[in-house]
Amino acid sequence: MEEVRNEISALAERSPAAKDLMEGVCRQLHERMLKYNWVGFYMLEPGAKPPMLVLESFVGAMTPHTRIPLNQGICGAAASSGKTIVVDDVSKDPRYLSCSLETKSEIVVPIFVHGKVAGELDIDSHFPAAFGIEDQQLVQYCAELVGNKLERS
Ligand code: SME
Repeated sequence: MEEVRNEISALAERSPAAKDLMEGVCRQLHERMLKYNWVGFYMLEPGAKPPMLVLESFVGAMTPHTRIPLNQGICGAAASSGKTIVVDDVSKDPRYLSCSLETKSEIVVPIFVHGKVAGELDIDSHFPAAFGIEDQQLVQYCAELVGNKLERS
């Protein structure tokens, strides 16, 4: 976990733009964290009314949910509350929008830019309760790096 964190810090330093970092984070987390089966970023569409999350970089199977309004899904709940959401068993969460029948658990971490939610990092796992406290910290760290990069671009 520590090693992956260091690799992602290095990636942030050498990524010229937020988009490069987001692509790298998706690749790295998907490759190195064996239970992270789908990794992707949803970003708030600038100026959209009502607000809309739009799928950007991702690694994993294509999802039917490329645009998610804030009142839908775990993704919408995380973006509208500005809080990390961890769901150990997606079948028990009525907010869950299914992207793959294999998904058992999910984490969604908001990305802040100048104190406001700008998007989020969403990860699905084929394993139940795949996201413990250390995973939460790792994913939050990645979301912070992307937020910092966006603030500087
Ligand atoms: N499960 C998410 C939708 C996105 S897919 O997992 C990629 C949700 O409930 O908002």
